Amino acid sequence: MQENNGLSGNLPALRETIEKELGALQNVKELYEFKNVYLEGKKSKISELMKEMRNLAPEERADYGKSVNALKEWALERFAEMEKKLRERELLQRYEREKIDITIPAQPIRTGNLHPVTLVRNQMIDIFTGMGFEIYEGSEIETDYYNFTALNTPQDHPARDMQDTFYVSPEFLLRTQTSAGQIHVMEKKRPPIKILSPGKVFRSDDDATHSPMFSQMEGLVVDRGITLSDLKGMLDVLVQKVYGEGTTTRLRPSYFPFTEPSVEVDCSCFACGGKGCSLCKGTGWIEVLGAGVVNKRVLENCGIDSEEYSGFAFGIGLERTAMLKYGINNIKLLFQSDLRVLRQLNG
Ligand code: PHE
Repeated sequence: MQENNGLSGNLPALRETIEKELGALQNVKELYEFKNVYLEGKKSKISELMKEMRNLAPEERADYGKSVNALKEWALERFAEMEKKLRERELLQRYEREKIDITIPAQPIRTGNLHPVTLVRNQMIDIFTGMGFEIYEGSEIETDYYNFTALNTPQDHPARDMQDTFYVSPEFLLRTQTSAGQIHVMEKKRPPIKILSPGKVFRSDDDATHSPMFSQMEGLVVDRGITLSDLKGMLDVLVQKVYGEGTTTRLRPSYFPFTEPSVEVDCSCFACGGKGCSLCKGTGWIEVLGAGVVNKRVLENCGIDSEEYSGFAFGIGLERTAMLKYGINNIKLLFQSDLRVLRQLNG
């Protein structure tokens, strides 16, 4: 007897084919292609089998339908098993492919470091702002008036020879000192004044310890009753923080047109502790900055009553400070951007 027109007889063969093809699948992509061909959509092999139903005698349809459904269910189950297996296999392959050996020594990462002059400047700004100083940044091009005349250095004053000047025009020049900022501040602000003015300055000067462009840090304090001992007290704190705890200062008489009295400030040699060495040339002292009590004429030039107010000012060379602090013997090393040098100077 020919059952189901022989249709049911196709099912075991298809089952065998499915089993064989599933077993040969290599990856999830192939699995889905397989699903399309056999299980999904109107054109799949299973759907085709279902469509055959209409060619059967009505009494045969129920059995046939059951068999096809059973085959479909079985195929879907096998598909799910295979999917799980292939996904696991692909995951393992991916782990293998993306494996990182965390025991390999790391490539060293070179970080940059701040330039020694920047380090010194930042440190001083920290120290002085901690004492209540405000920062004033002036301009690098100044008029003759602000750089010299208002600072009690008129045209024919011999002190102009102390600073060989780059003139841009008869009236304008590259500032030779951050002291020019003192005048700007005192013109605009009434006492109490407590400012710190870092910046570049320019002088026609060029040897192992001088550069045509260098950096200064100006300090100015104006209030009632300010004296030279306020300056000394403050500088003691400064040198201890910059050069080390035990460092002390001494004042030597000097001359600047805009301060009276004027002083050169030395600090005890931080290399030998004051015994005398090559750094301090056997004297036990190192010159670190110029300073003084603000000349009454300068106060008056800015409309500040010199009977009521007094002040002190100081100017520190930042390259010089960096050279002393880091033991650099030629100022050019600070401007040549040689990384072999600069990398050593990061503390
Ligand atoms: N301006 C002086 C210089 O450049 C330094 C200085 C500043 C001296 C303030 C006294 C007061 O040499």
